[in-house]
Amino acid sequence: MIRIHSLATKVALSFAMVAAATSAQAADIEKGRAKADQVCAACHGKDGNTPIDPSYPKLAGQAADYLYHALRDYRSEARKNAIMAGMAKPLSDADMKNLAAYYASLPGSLRIKP
Ligand code: HEC
Repeated sequence: MIRIHSLATKVALSFAMVAAATSAQAADIEKGRAKADQVCAACHGKDGNTPIDPSYPKLAGQAADYLYHALRDYRSEARKNAIMAGMAKPLSDADMKNLAAYYASLPGSLRIKP
């Protein structure tokens, strides 16, 4: 085991670990909620479960990673949909992470039948 004796080294290391932890959990659910209410709720429903059209997917409770990648793919047009391309183009990566984390945090209505 490596023993660290210098207090300065210990302090520097703990700051480095805090910085690493902070950048890893980048998503901000409250910011995601604010943008979702402004923009996305019009089609996907306020709760992410009641889309205005049955062909629009339910977002609530889907995996954050899936939602984030879907948004990136709409933005790059790897996934082609004219409506969602228009929605995703103005979003930054941080917006997409926040939106994905918000919708993933909502209770989903999809169930596996027993
Ligand atoms: C004008 C209506 C409309 C608005 C507003 C809208 N969407 Fe969509 N969304 C759609 C439609 C339609 C689809 C299905 C597209 C397809 O078939 O790929 C979709 C699909 C999605 C998907 C893919 C879900 C899945 O299960 O694969 C995500 C994620 C998504 N929207 C997120 C958002 C977010 C986040 C916003 C707000 C920034 C938003 N949408 C705003 C209509 C809309």
